[in-house]
Amino acid sequence: MTANLVVLVSGSGSNLQALMDACADPAYGARVVAVGADRHGTYGLERAQNAGIPTFVQRVKDHPTRDEWDAALTADIAAYEPDLIVSAGFLKICGPRLLEAYPGRYINTHNSLLPAFPGMNGPGEALNAGVKLAGATLFICDSGIDTGPIVAQCAVPVEDDDTVETLTERIKEAERAQLVEAVGRMMRDGWKVDGRRVRLG
Ligand code: GRF
Repeated sequence: MTANLVVLVSGSGSNLQALMDACADPAYGARVVAVGADRHGTYGLERAQNAGIPTFVQRVKDHPTRDEWDAALTADIAAYEPDLIVSAGFLKICGPRLLEAYPGRYINTHNSLLPAFPGMNGPGEALNAGVKLAGATLFICDSGIDTGPIVAQCAVPVEDDDTVETLTERIKEAERAQLVEAVGRMMRDGWKVDGRRVRLG
């Protein structure tokens, strides 16, 4: 059986592209059934449209309250009956409606080795802190900012001459491979969450 993925994006969508490319192989076990965004005009949405994948946009500012935005986004996602929702560069913290509708089935990829450097500037904070290893974390979303149970992590070296840009790109390359690998395993073999600990298979 092929699992349904809904992917949420705000930006360039290179993680989305990696997932779409992986899904081209039937043995991968999943397909991207829709791509959602919190803004119009991004390259992530264009990538989906180029691949013939349906898209939807819910902007916070088009709703009277954040709760109504949460409800509208949840309804759009639910229409595609996802087995897993993947936030890939989606720059919004989702609300309780989405979390309650898909407990343990909404994941996010972040460009730091959590719990270090949550938030918007993982690579920059890693450089400022002088760490020698940076990386990416795939985790199951909860109501906090980058606080949920960890599914997978990968490390990359911080080089002496790194800038935020070069480190960000090195992390993103490892992050995409990790996302493809972990989502595939989750969809083919299943996963269990036991408190803070996530086990694949
Ligand atoms: C990823 O590195 C993610 O961790 C960060 O934004 C990046 C998204 O990149 N929050 P892309 O849109 O998938 O290219």
